[in-house]
Order: sequence, then C-alpha cells, then structure tokens
Amino acid sequence: MNKFSTDIKIGIDSIGFSTSKYFMDLKTLAKNRNVNLEKYYSGIGQKFISVFPHNEDTITIGFDAANKILTKYNSTDNIKLLLFATETGIDQSKSGAVYLHKFLNLSSDCRVIELKHACYAATAALNFAKNFVLANPEQKALVVASDIAKYEMHSVGEPTQGGGAVAFLISQNPRIAVIEPFSGVYTNEVMDFWRPNFKKEPIVFGQLSAQCYISALKKCTESYFKSSSLTIKDIDLYCYHSPFPKMVYKAHERVFENSESTCRQFLDDSLCYSKIIGNSYTASLYISLCSLLENANANFANKRVGLFSYGSGSIGEFFSIVLKDGYSNFLLKNQHDFLLSNRQEVDFETYCNFHKDEIIDGDIEQFCTVSNLTLKMIKNGARVYEFIK
Ligand code: CAA
Repeated sequence: MNKFSTDIKIGIDSIGFSTSKYFMDLKTLAKNRNVNLEKYYSGIGQKFISVFPHNEDTITIGFDAANKILTKYNSTDNIKLLLFATETGIDQSKSGAVYLHKFLNLSSDCRVIELKHACYAATAALNFAKNFVLANPEQKALVVASDIAKYEMHSVGEPTQGGGAVAFLISQNPRIAVIEPFSGVYTNEVMDFWRPNFKKEPIVFGQLSAQCYISALKKCTESYFKSSSLTIKDIDLYCYHSPFPKMVYKAHERVFENSESTCRQFLDDSLCYSKIIGNSYTASLYISLCSLLENANANFANKRVGLFSYGSGSIGEFFSIVLKDGYSNFLLKNQHDFLLSNRQEVDFETYCNFHKDEIIDGDIEQFCTVSNLTLKMIKNGARVYEFIK
C-alpha cells in the first residue's frame, strides 16, 4: 500500500480532559470586587472558574487527561509521537513533554516536543500529528494540550481565568472523528494578548483581542469555504475556542448570523464545560468538542463539525471533522461527570492563596489532586513530582 494514499482516514481515536479539583463561583469574585454578578453570569457568560493549588500544574493535569484515555481506550503501543501544547509551561528550556513521556510510560523511541502559540498550539499539534500518521499509518500520535489561565488580580480578565488539559490520540481508522483535508488559516501580527518573560500574568487588551478573534474567524471561514468548495449549509455543528462563553456566542452571531436556530442549542451544549471551568487556553477548543459530544441529546454520526481555533498574537484556523458511527461509545462522559461533580468550591481567601506566585525552592503545600500525581517540591530549580500511594 502506498503509505501516502489519500484513502487513509486519520483522526481522533479517543479524547479526554482534566481540570482542577477546585473551583470558585464568580459570585464570590463579584462580591469581593464590588461588581454586579450579572456582568459575570450573563455579560461574560461565566459561572465558575477552575483554580489551582501550587501542587497542580500543566504537567499533572496533562497527565490526568492522557492517563484517562490510555487507561480506558488505548494502550501506549505504537505511540511514537507526543506533542505537548501549552502557553503556561513550567520551564523556558526543558520540554514539559518529557515529564509526560516518563509518567505515561511511553517507549523510548517516541519523539516528544513542546509547542507554543498562545491558544492555537493544540491545533498546530493536531495538524502535525495528522501528517505524522499519514506518513506512518501504523503509528499513533498523542497530543496533550494543557494550560492554567491566570490574569492579574483586580484586572478585567480576572473573571475569565480557569484552566484545563485535554488529551487526544490521533490514528488511522479513528473511532471518534475523521479530520478533513482542508482548512482556512489566517495569520496577523498584533499585540492583543502576550506574556513577556519577566511577567507571570499576561498583558491583554481585552476589547482589541475580542475584535481580533472575530476578524480571524471571518477570514478563516472565507478561506475554508473557498478551499473546500463547501458552503455554510454543509456545516452541521460548530465548536469554538472559548476564552469566555459570551465571546463564542458573539463571534458565531457576527459571522454566521443566518445560521439555523438549532445551532444555538448545540452551541450551548459545546459550552457546558467551559462555563464552569473557565478559559483553558489551548485546551479550550477541544474541551468544547468534548462538551458538545457528551452533552447534546442527539446522535451526530456522520455530521460535520466546524472548529475554530484562535491564538492571540495572532493566528486562527477553521477546519472540520466528520463524526464516526458509534463515536459516542468511545467518549469519557462518565469520567468527566465524575471529575466535575466532585470538585470543591473555594472561598475568596483560598483563591487569593492559590493565585500567589509559586515558591521557587522548597516543599510545595499539598492539596487534593485530580490524579495520583502531585508536584512535591522544587529543589535547586528542578521540579520533583511524586505518585501518591
Ligand atoms: N448585567 C449584564 N451584563 C453586563 C452588566 C450587568 N450588570 N455589566 C456589564 N455587562 C456586559 C457588558 O455589556 C458586556 O457585554 P457586551 O460585550 O455584549 O456589550 C459584558 O458584560 C462585558 O462587559 P465589559 O465589556 O465592560 O467588560 P470588561 O471591560 O470588564 O472586560 C473582557 C471584558 C474584555 C472580555 C475581559 O474580561 C478580558 O480582557 N478578558 C481577557 C481577554 C479575552 O478573553 N479575550 C478574548 C479574545 S482573545 C482569545 O480568545 C485568546 C485567549 O484565550 C485569551
């Protein structure tokens, strides 16, 4: 068989996500910031945000997401590429992917790397993984996208914090969805959101960033429809990067204003998780995909989902997947329901403690984690993780 044959169907074989064990209801923030709660609940569309103790980081939650899919639906056999996408990595030089490689027990001939482009890196990883499997159809690629979104205290971005990790396995003959060969990309250098090396939290021009998101969506969809020869009628469902839910509703209305009203219900389904997790940067789009597939009361077999990825700075990509027959048998709805219904609400004081910069040397205070992996200490600048027995 020609290994570059276009008959090979490549896509998402399994997908799972994770987030913190802790969340804050935005009514707590509204009270302490003297803001009308309706601004957060309906103006921004956010109800809760995930908040993270210092012993959870993008590695521990990334591990939890990947471990879920590997335990339930895949073995580590034939995973020869691990891509770790993040903009809130733990080191300026060492790739976070090597920690995941070790904790997941992947084989030593598996190539690993960390990728960054704001919230877009997971989509770049998806593309690289697809091309890798196209060239090596018997092999698989694991993508882990993980971010913890922290804005400055008292800033307008504060109610749009959050965090989460998603893991998906890319293979031939996937069980969940096939990735289609066309997409629309739009790159445009702009200072809407960035985090210079000396800063822990990003600098953001919120209103500008929202305009950039909408412009990128317009440009990407124009280019997608042109290159695919499809029309709006061919897209059954939509999923978006969700910095905050209202952004998604606004962008969708602006670009697809004449779309069917049923889409609105499915947009709600796609945002169920992000409404209670908050922004998870590069993981966000794919957590929205889990949300749509796991919360909609419908069978979407053979339906086309249009996905919009946006990374500040900026790049956007609109692409599509087609869902497979029986896809719902391979979701992790029960595990995700368990994760989200067993979180603990924090008070304002705990939120303020979690928000402080992590210590640079010594033991890390231990809180409950979502998996049995924890960041135990930082010793001479090295992070020491431990499996809790
Ligand atoms: N009741 C109901 N609604 C109210 C209200 C009330 N009492 N008070 C205000 N609102 C509404 C406002 O009318 C507004 O709605 P519209 O946009 O529909 O007019 C909404 O609540 C927000 O109010 P403001 O515009 O006054 O909000 P703000 O200036 O405080 O900031 C924000 C909003 C710009 C989104 C800010 O939270 C922010 O900077 N967030 C971070 C940046 C971001 O998420 N950008 C998104 C695009 S960039 C991207 O996607 C990458 C990424 O992940 C960061």
